[in-house]
Amino acid sequence: MIRRPPAAAGQRLEEVDTPALVLDLDAFEANLATLNRAVGARVRVRAHAKTHKCPDIAQRQIAAGAVGVCCQKVSEAEALVDGGVRDVLVSNEIVGAPKIARLAELSGRARIGVCVDNTENVKPLKDSGARLDVYIELEVGMARCGVAPGAPALALAKEILKAPNLRLAGLHAYHGRAQHVRSMAERKASIDRAAQAVVSTKALFKQHGIDTPIVTGAGSGTFMFEVESGAWDEIQPGSYVFMDADYARNEWAAPLPRFQHALFVLATVMSRPRPQVAIVDAGLKASSVDSGMPGLWQRPGLTYTHASDEHGWVEGSPAPALGEKLLLVPGHCDPTVNLYDWYVCVRRGIVEELWPISARGALT
Ligand SMILES: Cc1ncc(COP(=O)(O)O)c(C=O)c1O
Repeated sequence: MIRRPPAAAGQRLEEVDTPALVLDLDAFEANLATLNRAVGARVRVRAHAKTHKCPDIAQRQIAAGAVGVCCQKVSEAEALVDGGVRDVLVSNEIVGAPKIARLAELSGRARIGVCVDNTENVKPLKDSGARLDVYIELEVGMARCGVAPGAPALALAKEILKAPNLRLAGLHAYHGRAQHVRSMAERKASIDRAAQAVVSTKALFKQHGIDTPIVTGAGSGTFMFEVESGAWDEIQPGSYVFMDADYARNEWAAPLPRFQHALFVLATVMSRPRPQVAIVDAGLKASSVDSGMPGLWQRPGLTYTHASDEHGWVEGSPAPALGEKLLLVPGHCDPTVNLYDWYVCVRRGIVEELWPISARGALT
């Protein structure tokens, strides 16, 4: 259920009801342009929609040059296709008859890709008869899903090629652990190792006469390393559109461009119990705290020290007044977005549009 929006177009930011998820349109558009400038035409961009869960944002990423988007869940893909997106890669293994039936239904309405890392994944996809792009997910250092590079990946490719309805679209090689490693040098070293796994697997496929049309992967913390390695054809950054507080703690230097904070939680001071303490109406149900507390935007003397379900502690000086509104920079953008029904899109302090977060809670 999509709830009533907390704001209306034309309102001033101070008039927006709280807690509200605010998207600064100037910063958001600058982030789209920054990614394009950095990558140029060297690889395709397939932005990750797990971050924003919003067809309005996906459409803007595609208008800015992305070939399509990724998502992690079939229900996210449904929301994106319902919202007009025509090329979606579910960058995940999809297991179980109900989900595969839904994937098959989607494949009649859009170009749909999916990942596999086990021959047992391939059979039900084949039996569904659906036309699907299938990517072999390689384990390249994240220790999550993924088949080992080399011979195990080759065996999987041969299974996919036996299925007339499935197209072997290539390799999915995403190193999630590398994204938030603070040091540039360590991040690059992780991607260099991942690139070796990709290159050797592609070479083995070639020896067996198997083509690898696309190697896809990469996130906001490393994507230029994947681009510069020459081993990837497509990148999947998601968080770059918003730039959360945790990503801001990374070391950012060339070749990675710096993105701007575009996503905020607007909160109201609801109590002033002690001189240097303000309690805001945005706790852990308003801003995820798995990657640390939210930051305070342009209030250097203040720190958001801790959160309970519906309350946040803001400490320091000058302490904000009762009723004052504060912008918080979420610690981790993806799970924060999943707490809201609407983006309140603001340009220079005025609400311009409201975009529904259609895939909020889309977990299946
Ligand atoms: C498979 C995959 N690709 C890309 C991304 C995007 O990463 P980021 O939001 O760090 O840019 C993720 C994020 O978890 C992911 O799981």
